[in-house]
Amino acid sequence: MKPWDAFGGDAVFRPLLHDFYARIKRSTIVHLFPPELIETEEKQFAFQSEFWGGPERYSPWRGHPRLRARHMPFAIDQTAADVWMSCMQEAVAHSAMPTEYRETFLQRMRLTAQAMINRSVADGAEHPF
Ligand code: HEM
Repeated sequence: MKPWDAFGGDAVFRPLLHDFYARIKRSTIVHLFPPELIETEEKQFAFQSEFWGGPERYSPWRGHPRLRARHMPFAIDQTAADVWMSCMQEAVAHSAMPTEYRETFLQRMRLTAQAMINRSVADGAEHPF
């Protein structure tokens, strides 16, 4: 069975990602995102589907993911990655994803979130001295 199906497929990921972006909206990194998250949620859904062996919904629509390059315009430091990750962790905790697969999913999200970091926390911060 493909991970996508083992994780619960569309029936699990639709509400999970909806909840995730609702959490992003209430988070300290909301300013990085477009004001309307409907299409962002759709892109994430398409990406996750294809990534985990479900229907190929992302590349026919968006092309090669090039995730790091696509995130470059947004200032993502360690704190932003941590906030993103805690929104995802909470969304998974409140989802219907089978508990035995949650850590596999989250571990991959953690690695990818770390890889999206493109600014140092000190960048843009006022010099303390
Ligand atoms: C580390 C913290 C992260 C932040 C702050 C962040 C932020 C963003 C922002 C602002 C966008 C643009 C939204 C839009 O164009 O609608 C975006 C797009 C996207 N992000 Fe992230 N992201 C993060 C991590 C991740 C991770 C870990 C993944 C995958 C596992 C991911 C997958 C995507 C995808 C698939 C898109 C759409 C790309 C496209 O087709 O244009 N992001 N992200």
